[in-house]
Amino acid sequence: MLISGKQILQHAYENGYAVPAFNFANMENLQAIIEGAEEMNAPVIIQTTQGAIDYAGFEYLADIGIGAAQRSRVPVVLHLDHGQKYEYCLKAIQLGWTSIMIDSSLEKLAENVRKVNEVIKIARPLGIAVEAELGIIGGKEDDLKSEQDIYTEVKDAVDFYQATHCDALAIAVGTAHGIYKGTVKIDFNRIQEIREKLPIPLVLHGSSGVPLEMVSQAVRCGINKVNFDTELKLANLQALQTFMTKNPGVYDIRKMYRPCRQAMKEVVKAKIEACKATNKSWVVL
Ligand code: G3H
Ligand code: ZN
Repeated sequence: MLISGKQILQHAYENGYAVPAFNFANMENLQAIIEGAEEMNAPVIIQTTQGAIDYAGFEYLADIGIGAAQRSRVPVVLHLDHGQKYEYCLKAIQLGWTSIMIDSSLEKLAENVRKVNEVIKIARPLGIAVEAELGIIGGKEDDLKSEQDIYTEVKDAVDFYQATHCDALAIAVGTAHGIYKGTVKIDFNRIQEIREKLPIPLVLHGSSGVPLEMVSQAVRCGINKVNFDTELKLANLQALQTFMTKNPGVYDIRKMYRPCRQAMKEVVKAKIEACKATNKSWVVL
């Protein structure tokens, strides 16, 4: 079933687990996420960046994302990930996305607040959750590239929340988008401090490559949404390379992409398990 981001994140916030969020850009990618969530009996967020929308088409992603969510046995949220342009946020809302991220984290604070409030103004009356970002998460996501990360300051997070009352906040605590070059270090104390001060779900980006136990620890410290993208892409690539090496003459896309979908699904299931983090139940609707 397709549900609102607000509803599912609120339940996660109140019950101390995180809803995993996975990016998708095509059918196999989407099927791997939904099937993985169904096999784990877990709620899930399927998300699209502006780049994925440019690649596949807005209406097309709406068709397959909403269709898959509606047919699913588990609660599914369709989320716009790293929306940077107001037009994308607006169109996503018009087409049925149930959660929106407006990412103006590279702007000055006042401009970030202004842009977030602009989206909240149209999303809130419709019950659509708005995620914002404060601080700078390193690495590269779509065409968003940050050479260095700037950790979210607790005081800034409080001021930002008071100025926007956003529904969820992505914070920079040491993770980075893409493939990690060194060891992952997460500032768990900072997550806890921000969690104590803000009455809203916190979001961890750049979670591919973060050891599963660290993901669970971040959740126990107060994270309620965890974003994964790169590891699904890598699983897809590795499965495809292995298949083509073993079956050089095969050109049937159904045969080629079946192991890719399976490999992505295994990643999805492992991440879902890590996001549960406690013995409490997932959302039951
Ligand atoms: O917004 C998406 C994520 O933050 C994904 O990051 O590709 O490092 O898993 P990742
Ligand atoms: Zn991200």
